Amino acid sequence: MTSIPTPAPVIRMQGIKREYRMGGRHAKGDDAIVVRALRGLDFSAGAGEFVSVMGPSGSGKSTLMNILGCLDKPSAGTYTLDGIETSESDSDTFAYIRNRKIGFVFQSFNLLARTTALENVELPMFYRRREKGVKPYGTRERRERARAALREVGLEKRMDHYPSQLSGGQQQRVAIARAIVNDPAFILADEPTGNLDSQMSLEIMGLFQQLNRRGKTIVMVTHEPEFAAYTKRIITLRDGTLVSDVEGEGRDAGRELARWKSDNSLLADGKIPGVPPEGGA
Ligand SMILES: Nc1ncnc2c1ncn2[C@@H]1O[C@H](COP(=O)(O)OP(=O)(O)OP(=O)(O)O)[C@@H](O)[C@H]1O
Ligand SMILES: [Mg+2]
Repeated sequence: MTSIPTPAPVIRMQGIKREYRMGGRHAKGDDAIVVRALRGLDFSAGAGEFVSVMGPSGSGKSTLMNILGCLDKPSAGTYTLDGIETSESDSDTFAYIRNRKIGFVFQSFNLLARTTALENVELPMFYRRREKGVKPYGTRERRERARAALREVGLEKRMDHYPSQLSGGQQQRVAIARAIVNDPAFILADEPTGNLDSQMSLEIMGLFQQLNRRGKTIVMVTHEPEFAAYTKRIITLRDGTLVSDVEGEGRDAGRELARWKSDNSLLADGKIPGVPPEGGA
């Protein structure tokens, strides 16, 4: 029997601490108030995982997201992303990691308003030009890749729409296409359904599940246990420490969406189960 080597984790955090020193720059010793937002966190995730990060307000989720997203550095500990030790990186490497290794999806979509869906998705590919040793994409290649990403999220018919001409769920799809277009090591989503109604939220969770089935690694912060139930693994923070790490329910958003739609179309048609239509039978 041949043994399959375990792949290196995409994310490996060891002993991560983040302290905020308050009280002004003159505060020293006992005068300084230190907020310990993360208190020595160990967390690893491998390729193909779909993890949700939960925890009460103030538990350290955003602090963790900022470090995961290379927007902030820890006060102590090591964070290796796709084999790159981030704590030793300079700001150029940090920018490179953010652009190429991480696909960000935010609660508020963060699309450029005067720019079509297609152009929004092309944007991350422009930054490649500035990287040393990286072949920039040509115009045609950029366009092709952006189109493919939009097709992947089911928006092939909306490529030339501006954000204001799209529903919230469609805007979030554009943001997801933008997040995957550079083929990042993982997608980092911060409350991606926070601004969406229930149907759109289910659609977005279904899309994440589809992408995950195709091998994309996803880390998602959410307040809602209902949405965490669609992920494969749930970690929970409390007071800056990891207090639980369990398997998710793995509910199927696509199936629930189909059921939801059929129930609602029955209601819309007046065909409420058990109630004969007016003038009928
Ligand atoms: N820039 C900062 N300066 C000082 N303290 C901070 C700073 N940012 C966060 N904190 C503190 O660190 C702790 C963790 O905050 P964090 O924003 O990570 O929580 P959270 O889990 O994201 O909460 P929420 O669910 O409300 O968004 C809190 O006690 C918070 O007050
Ligand atoms: Mg937060």
